[in-house]
Amino acid sequence: MDKQIVDIDMADVGHGNPAWIAALEAGKVLYFPNFGTYGKAGFAPQKEELALFREDIRDPKSRNISLDAGGNLKGAAGDDADKAMLAGMIGRFRAEAEGLLGNLVPRYGEHLRRGATSFRPSVVQTRVQSWRADDRRLHVDAFPSRPNRGERLLRVFTNVNLEGQPRVWRVGEPFEDVARRFLPRLKPYAAWQAKLINALGITKSLRSEYDHLMLQLHDAMKSDLDYQKNAPQETFGFPPGCAWVCFSDQTSHSVMAGQYMLEYTAQLSPLHQYDKDASPLAILTRLQGHALV
Ligand code: SIN
Ligand code: FE
Repeated sequence: MDKQIVDIDMADVGHGNPAWIAALEAGKVLYFPNFGTYGKAGFAPQKEELALFREDIRDPKSRNISLDAGGNLKGAAGDDADKAMLAGMIGRFRAEAEGLLGNLVPRYGEHLRRGATSFRPSVVQTRVQSWRADDRRLHVDAFPSRPNRGERLLRVFTNVNLEGQPRVWRVGEPFEDVARRFLPRLKPYAAWQAKLINALGITKSLRSEYDHLMLQLHDAMKSDLDYQKNAPQETFGFPPGCAWVCFSDQTSHSVMAGQYMLEYTAQLSPLHQYDKDASPLAILTRLQGHALV
């Protein structure tokens, strides 16, 4: 397998480097080792924010602490002062993440829609979760209740661990290899089922065939232990202070270890990609031979 992680010095980010855009749209991970230390850009927590770095700052009922596009903070424990400081810290990272994307992929521009930005204070190694929710298993991101009809999930991550612990990821094979391997085993789409679960309120809108296939891929990857162990993969520890960027609906990824990360999500219609044929929607449509949305 080709190397799936591409190193980029922040000094070389420039304005729309075609090789990095192609790598990103091919599902690779763009890695910025000096994100946190590069001049005025980048992100590092401020001294008073260090008080937020404790596991119980997260409400145990929530998976993450997040600041939504409308500025609402969700999932936080702590008092009002903690919450205001969390919103400030997450918002500062969001501004840096959007700045980085503006330079990396300038043509996405105004087509990038701001999603949620999260702070993840939990220890990855010991968290107990069902196999389906367990992001320690290789997967592509797909969400059961939120159909997106092919819209892309572009994410920027930074490791903000204070004790030098890396955020350890596995990055798997390219999306088309995943799709070719699993498509023959997936349950076919049933329009009546999509209508039923939508009427019952299980989905927020009608699940398209694309959404069905993406969820099935997510589940098929995670439930196959042999695949988890033996699939082509690269393990990498992202050190504190770095950032990395990928399309998480396309890049096969898993997180094995770490604590304290910030993550920014933007959505993008695949029609606004540099190469429209590189999207999961285009790849699945080609492999299935018919329209999926
Ligand atoms: C994921 O997106 O699957 C988890 C990433 C992480 O928590 O490092
Ligand atoms: Fe994921």
